[in-house]
Amino acid sequence: MNTGMPPLAGGFFLTLEGIEGAGKSSAVPVLMEWCHQQGYAVEVTREPGGGPLGEALRPIFLDDRLQLGADEELLLLYAGRRNHWLTRIAPALAAGKVLISDRYEDSTYAYQGGGRGVPSARIAELARWTGITRQPDLTFWFDVPPELGAARIRARHPDRMEREDREFFTRARGVFAERCAAEPQRIARIDATQPLALVHDALRARLAVALTCHR
Ligand SMILES: Nc1ncnc2c1ncn2[C@@H]1O[C@H](COP(=O)(O)OP(=O)(O)OP(=O)(O)O)[C@@H](O)[C@H]1O
Ligand SMILES: [Mg+2]
Repeated sequence: MNTGMPPLAGGFFLTLEGIEGAGKSSAVPVLMEWCHQQGYAVEVTREPGGGPLGEALRPIFLDDRLQLGADEELLLLYAGRRNHWLTRIAPALAAGKVLISDRYEDSTYAYQGGGRGVPSARIAELARWTGITRQPDLTFWFDVPPELGAARIRARHPDRMEREDREFFTRARGVFAERCAAEPQRIARIDATQPLALVHDALRARLAVALTCHR
């Protein structure tokens, strides 16, 4: 491992986004290992979850029996996100680390917004209310058609979100696409239909550029 790299001023906040089965979680160990090789300190978190509150809320979020509506989902997500930010993300960034979150706020706009139909202005209002002003420095949007994502996770026992229908994920994908078009500097679309090795090559190459520009 190259340990010669000084801490990144302000850290580097990387998020992984995309629908189910796109390849986000599979990329985590690859990105971690690459960062370590380059001499960066790394931490990995996830949403829903991340901080202690979000992790405690995660089974509640995924519980079918609780009859959660879209607004209750949103309130749970943002309570968890604020705690995730305060307990994990902000301290890691302050320590100059690369913080990788497996899903973050773009998923809220995609799933609760696109999927469930909550107006994006309503989500933005709650986002503003939490007082988190920093956006990810880079977001990888793993883009796959819903049928391919679903096929990849077919062997898994589907959770509450994974049981949504194809139209839900088509709408969610549409929101990721809109957000990528609106913020092309932050959101990098990765063609996640490619073989895993090519996806991972693309991630490493794009992250290397972003970290170099960030220094
Ligand atoms: N590009 C790819 N080619 C082939 N298989 C892939 C590819 N990307 C991921 N997979 C496989 O698809 C499955 C789902 O991938 P993974 O768990 O990384 O998706 P995810 O985006 O984290 O999904 P979820 O949102 O459900 O957590 C895994 O078995 C993984 O090995
Ligand atoms: Mg995953």
